[in-house]
Amino acid sequence: MGKRKALMAGNWKMHTTAVDGCQLAVDVASACADFTDREVLLAPPFTILSEVSHILKGRPVIIGSQNVCWEEKGAFTGEISPIMVQAAGGSAAIVGHSERRQIFGETDELINKRLRGGLSFGLLMIFCVGETLEEREAGKAFAVLYEQIKKGLADVAAPDMAKVVIAYEPVWAIGTGKTASKEQAQETHAFIRGVLEQIYEKNVAEQTRILYGGSVKPTNVDELMAQPDIDGALVGGAALDAQSFGRIINFK
Ligand code: 13P
Repeated sequence: MGKRKALMAGNWKMHTTAVDGCQLAVDVASACADFTDREVLLAPPFTILSEVSHILKGRPVIIGSQNVCWEEKGAFTGEISPIMVQAAGGSAAIVGHSERRQIFGETDELINKRLRGGLSFGLLMIFCVGETLEEREAGKAFAVLYEQIKKGLADVAAPDMAKVVIAYEPVWAIGTGKTASKEQAQETHAFIRGVLEQIYEKNVAEQTRILYGGSVKPTNVDELMAQPDIDGALVGGAALDAQSFGRIINFK
């Protein structure tokens, strides 16, 4: 682990309703020791943001939404605004997840709007990027990531980067049980840090946390977190099981 505070995030995707979600949240909070070197974040579905925030009040767990709109309110059917997230007890949001990009057609431009919108309300933003298997096999992974990062961070000023976390999630590793090897992940994270240095400056690149996501499990978290440019994890499937996620947040 590098010099940045680790962030271990659970993305619950479209899983859980109030009863099981609250139980899971409480069990995860119980697995949190008095951490000084890491933070824990949960992103439940919108419908139970309030309940989960309420039940974890006073516990050291950050609550975030799985997406966010850029406007405060208005005619945006199906969306959730930054102030709604905050009123529900959240202080963070994920944007640009590959499921949003691939299934719901979200573009780099739209994701950039969401990112800037969330930042303007002071949310901690987890901005996801990642290449498909086809792109990796064609040797285009870095070019795709460069494009996603450059467009996603357009007009995001250097000081705002303090509230941005990048999540590298290779699409081929999400929910497939196939994790990028620690060498592959480290190499890609180092590349992403280089892109940040190019867009901003060394300081920003060194301070920005870059999470890895894609089949993170209790069995591979330690070796991933030992890589110098991996600053945390964005966990899907294994975050739905308190025991597994408990082990993940307690990585060694
Ligand atoms: P899995 O951990 O289930 O592969 O999902 C990763 C992910 O998409 C987290 O956002």
